[in-house]
Amino acid sequence: MDVLEAIRTRRATREFTEQTPDAAVIASLIEAAAWAPSGINLQPWCFFVVDDRATLGACSTQAKALMLGQAEEHPELAGLRPMLESPIFNIFYNAPILVVICATSADEMAMKDCCLAAENLMLAAHGQGLGSCWIGLSEAWLNTPAAKTRLGVPTGFRPVAPIIIGYPKGPAHGGERRAPDVRHVRREAG
Ligand SMILES: Cc1cc2nc3c(=O)[nH]c(=O)nc-3n(C[C@H](O)[C@H](O)[C@H](O)COP(=O)(O)O)c2cc1C
Repeated sequence: MDVLEAIRTRRATREFTEQTPDAAVIASLIEAAAWAPSGINLQPWCFFVVDDRATLGACSTQAKALMLGQAEEHPELAGLRPMLESPIFNIFYNAPILVVICATSADEMAMKDCCLAAENLMLAAHGQGLGSCWIGLSEAWLNTPAAKTRLGVPTGFRPVAPIIIGYPKGPAHGGERRAPDVRHVRREAG
């Protein structure tokens, strides 16, 4: 697939078939992620792969409970309450795979590097007929000591980009974009 076509046609996928992608396919996506540029080529990332739906379901339950607890202090989460209270809502949409890209240092640049790796991963997934979606809703939980212990994430690592992956159940929806706001800077007079 042409790069521009891949960029334009990738969509967030929230419905997946029962099929679990092969480990070799996931390894190839992670390799693509690791080809992302990084500041001073430090490659400050580590990839944690959860490939078990039951584990992901349990993680979703814990993440929802944490967010519901936080909804008291964070009014912006109030609108999510009905969804978070629903026992059938899985924040990982019953995907077969979650890849959590973690920054291996607290450095701000490492976070940016992980975001670039995440986009590579999502585009590579799309190129292989897989769907993906970044699950920001899991970020608060992933950064708790309990979650880090559960996933084996060292204390000094920071979960940045949690990406679910699987085979899309149906055609992609949406994808509208505003025209980019571009402002050309003029040469200084004189
Ligand atoms: C940082 C970030 C966090 C996101 N968190 C979630 C999430 O928690 N749940 C979800 O369903 N989609 C999430 N998304 C997916 C966006 O909703 C989606 O990318 C956006 O609506 C644009 O749609 P498209 O990816 O199909 O072009 C997230 C995307 C990004 C980049």
